[in-house]
Amino acid sequence: MSNIEQFGTVRLGQRSVKRLGYGAMQLAGPGVFGPPKDRGAALAVLREAVASGVNHIDTSDFYGPHVTNQIIREALHPYPGDLLIVTKVGARRGTDASWNPAFSREELTQAVHDNLRNLGVEVLEVVNLRAMFDTHHPAEGSIEAPLSVLAELQRKGLVRHIGLSNVTPAQIAQGRRICDIVCVQNLYNLAHRDDDALIDDLARQGIAYVPFFPLGGFTPLQSSTLSDVAARLGATPLQVALAWLLHRAPNVLLIPGTSSLAHLRENLAAVQLSLSPQVLAELDRIAA
Ligand SMILES: NC(=O)c1ccc[n+]([C@@H]2O[C@H](COP(=O)([O-])OP(=O)(O)OC[C@H]3O[C@@H](n4cnc5c(N)ncnc54)[C@H](OP(=O)(O)O)[C@@H]3O)[C@@H](O)[C@H]2O)c1
Repeated sequence: MSNIEQFGTVRLGQRSVKRLGYGAMQLAGPGVFGPPKDRGAALAVLREAVASGVNHIDTSDFYGPHVTNQIIREALHPYPGDLLIVTKVGARRGTDASWNPAFSREELTQAVHDNLRNLGVEVLEVVNLRAMFDTHHPAEGSIEAPLSVLAELQRKGLVRHIGLSNVTPAQIAQGRRICDIVCVQNLYNLAHRDDDALIDDLARQGIAYVPFFPLGGFTPLQSSTLSDVAARLGATPLQVALAWLLHRAPNVLLIPGTSSLAHLRENLAAVQLSLSPQVLAELDRIAA
């Protein structure tokens, strides 16, 4: 079993979580819609992640929808005291599996209650507001109205901490004028580095940065440089991609997703990789 604590911990709201966590999106059915093919395997992945020391799980009630949270509850409830489950609101699934914005007061309130019920908790520890001005990339637009609704739900005690997802630096600045922002979750990995400056800025401000698609998402990363480095280190390319993120900045928290026990074990073992400055420079050239 890997010692996933060796890269230290990061403060997320009132908790400290290990740098390597788990993203639960892959536990729903194909296209993150409906039930998984093998519910038993999904339960086993979650239980092994936590037994291996993972104490940070990323989810949303719009994965499935509802299915992923219900599987998390079945696998892990009553939750270990140190487990931090982070969820997100702001999107709604169509009956055709489409991803639609859900920013109205009614939709956000409903989403918070759906998460509470399906996860089986009294309060959501961290909720990310997922911006949907463009489904796939951060795009400018005011988040004042939806974030104010989430901040009201926080004042009512239903939400402990608030984060932002799929957002621009201007939206983060706007958000911080409305409420405390504890984390930012955007697309970032070895090959997609639009947020390089943002990560360093957030590190200086003590805000956690949680890259989604750390392995490349639905199309896992492929690069000859990555494969060469991995072969030299006796590791897999995706382990090197995770290790590179762990080295990237101290505020980066990883939530790689998998529906497979073998991949989970491989991903957790990535913490054993120490990358030299020369190897990091070589990997940095992939996105250049
Ligand atoms: N805020 C947002 O908008 C947003 C968007 C997307 C995702 N997320 C969050 O971020 C988390 C991570 O993203 P993600 O799961 O979509 O993408 P990811 O972690 O970059 O990659 C997951 C993909 O890689 C495969 N994989 C995982 N480990 C592997 C390994 N060791 N070897 C080979 N293939 C491997 C998985 O397939 P297998 O199942 O076969 O292992 C899956 O297809 C999600 O779970 C979710 O919680 C947030």
